[in-house]
Amino acid sequence: MKGSEAIHPNKISVEKGITHFYIGQVSVMRHDKASIYFNCGPAQVLLRFLSPSLFRVVLNPYGEVDEKTTDAVYKRDWPEVELDVSEDDEYYHLTTSQLKVKVQKRPLRLAVYTPEGKVIHQDDPVRGMGWTEQKQVFCHKTMHGDEKFYGFGEKAGYLNKRGTRQIMWNSDVYAPHNEETNALYQSIPFFTSLSEKGVYGLFLDNPGKTIFDLTGEESYSFTAEAGKLDYYFFYGQDLKDVVSQYTELTGRMPLPPKWAIGYHQSRYSYQTEDEVREVARTFREKQIPCDVIYLDIHYMDGYRVFTWHPARFPNAPQLIQDLSQQGFHVIPIVDPGVKKDPSYRVYQEGVKQDYFCRYLEGDIYTGEVWPGESAFPDFTEEKVRKWWGKLHAHYTEAGIKGIWNDMNEPAVFNETKTMDVDVIHKNDGDPKPHKELHNLYGYYMSKATYEGLKELLAGERPFVVTRAGYAGIQRYAAVWTGDNRSFWEHLAMCIPMFLNMGISGLPFVGADIGGFAHPANGPLLARWTQLGTFTPFCRNHSALDVPRQEPWVFGEEIEAICRRYIELRYQLLPHLYTLFYQAAQTGLPILRPLVMEFPDDPMTHDLADQFMVGEDILVAPVYRPDMHARAVYLPRGQWINYWTKEEVSGGQYVLVPTPLEIMPIFVKKGAIIPHGVVEQYVGEKQGAPLTMHVFGLHGEQRYTLYEDDGHSFDYEKGCYNLVEWRITEDSGKVSVSYQPRHYQYDSGRKECHLVLHGVDGVQEVRGDTVKDWQYEREKKQLTVTVEAGSDPDTYVIRLK
Ligand code: GLC
Repeated sequence: MKGSEAIHPNKISVEKGITHFYIGQVSVMRHDKASIYFNCGPAQVLLRFLSPSLFRVVLNPYGEVDEKTTDAVYKRDWPEVELDVSEDDEYYHLTTSQLKVKVQKRPLRLAVYTPEGKVIHQDDPVRGMGWTEQKQVFCHKTMHGDEKFYGFGEKAGYLNKRGTRQIMWNSDVYAPHNEETNALYQSIPFFTSLSEKGVYGLFLDNPGKTIFDLTGEESYSFTAEAGKLDYYFFYGQDLKDVVSQYTELTGRMPLPPKWAIGYHQSRYSYQTEDEVREVARTFREKQIPCDVIYLDIHYMDGYRVFTWHPARFPNAPQLIQDLSQQGFHVIPIVDPGVKKDPSYRVYQEGVKQDYFCRYLEGDIYTGEVWPGESAFPDFTEEKVRKWWGKLHAHYTEAGIKGIWNDMNEPAVFNETKTMDVDVIHKNDGDPKPHKELHNLYGYYMSKATYEGLKELLAGERPFVVTRAGYAGIQRYAAVWTGDNRSFWEHLAMCIPMFLNMGISGLPFVGADIGGFAHPANGPLLARWTQLGTFTPFCRNHSALDVPRQEPWVFGEEIEAICRRYIELRYQLLPHLYTLFYQAAQTGLPILRPLVMEFPDDPMTHDLADQFMVGEDILVAPVYRPDMHARAVYLPRGQWINYWTKEEVSGGQYVLVPTPLEIMPIFVKKGAIIPHGVVEQYVGEKQGAPLTMHVFGLHGEQRYTLYEDDGHSFDYEKGCYNLVEWRITEDSGKVSVSYQPRHYQYDSGRKECHLVLHGVDGVQEVRGDTVKDWQYEREKKQLTVTVEAGSDPDTYVIRLK
């Protein structure tokens, strides 16, 4: 065994045949406002405070640091940070109002202290930052005994990633996803850490291949195979605070069109116009709500993007218009590969205008994808993104408002599964090999798509869903988790995956409901559709060579269960839309791990098979065929079973019977959850009454509902409503107050209901707007009907 001498700073160590260098002592320190530059021999390190709780670290082993950031960084202008800089023989002390960074001089090591003086984060004392002869860069940190790691975007495995290696390299993985297929389609090199010392987050902004090694006992590391060591440290009060800071930096999801929150039906592929019409007709006949039908690759002429297949889709614009009459949106797939075909307009334009990726020597890079040999647009160039965006007029002119981006890792049918890493991206004047920008390819494609659609749709909100992405992708697209399988294990696996994606700034996530590859079966589809009720992106999709799996395929019982849960999703749309609004405002996810809501309860720290929807709803999906009852952990407090309205005490596991039609749902006692009516598509029953379900009386209760027209950008001009309900109880007298805080959108609604659960008797209900009330003794439920409008209102319920 080698001693630590072997890895002495500034000395060379050889690990696995690779020579490692570690940063040495600080020779010069320069301080410019909130930026501190440390020279350590030829290497330079920059430490810049963006806010009192957020700083960036950049290392250049060979000279001055390159301060450019990737496009993932959205917020560029930060108010000046008050920073106190002092030094003694051994350390520099950098102090803000929220933390202190101690920089050891010999050798350079960082340590972050909380205001209470606890070390929350520090470089490994032996190995801090470093690099290899092969130009990899890395950083080693110490690990607290109880430290947990959440985030890392779209990853298989459990919630807490301690003990694992996380590899960031966008990859098209058709092989069944499992913990060993670590690099999937998305790379979000961001994590949060929770320990008794507190909470922090770290974002390594490097879009090449990066590896986080959390397998050690006392330290962990992150390494970038190419490019810079450039990371951000976020100190937070709690996980929510860290996620909110991370999304302030990398941006937040724009409010999607409301129809995109409905149910989506897809298939690889509905191959003809007739088939699409038949699917649409069946949804309406069977009264299963659905907003979107997808066109997978068969709609194209020889898989050429921006074309229609002449025989299969001879009149696509007519099809889209007819479906729109029935309340459906149509979303076509668009892949990045452009068929090498000298007679094809898109290929001609790309070649003539030099828009495709090329080798240094000048040849256009081509790779095999669905259309055969194809060229790939260089989306790192703004002019290429503009061109690509405009090409979408082909779709928008036909009435399309949403696009599905696939194969944008980019996937290529070869040994490496992607583009040659030596291909050069022009990158708006800062050329770099693909190796350094790989994980940004899909991000830039979706950026091009979103921005292009936004311009073309002139005031309508676009919707984009993508397979590949990088940090910041939330600004442009929803994300689905690629080619899963119809395995119970994959149903279980997508739950922690969604939760970690939410922590990584991506609120709008979903998996192929029913599973993509492998034949599905009835119970699996029923259970997966139940989970889908709450997944922000809710789409059933299946592969070419497997039997169909629309909700009606497996007989009446399964169909009824699927219908019931899709209906529930539509009933919950006012609440889900409010959660989308909150996510757009704060960056917080819609689906949350319990640890985010109950961090003080250690039982929640590794809990990966149940989740919160917002703050109030707890969902425990059933993810095995043999689960006739399921253990559900309820954190401390009182909970109401959504189905039975029974009250249950938390701080314990409860065993809930789970016949096929039941997915356990619990609501925090006292929560107010708005419900709309069942619609076959979003907006079908515009102006229908809203029902505020009150899950028991419990101190002061509030709910603020967000609503707007659901499809335009008028909300940016103030055309929206924020309405607060407040319920208080005092010795049997319940006051319900309705306060429009902002009211500039007319929903056309005339009536609202309030349903109060768990009351033993009612004497009277009084108020100017009260139209009717009814008490149902067996259900212990009071329903009050009031007039709805823009005026504040209060009414009083006297309990028996
Ligand atoms: C990829 C996608 C899948 C799609 C198929 C055909 O495998 O992940 O969803 O159906 O390509 O386009």
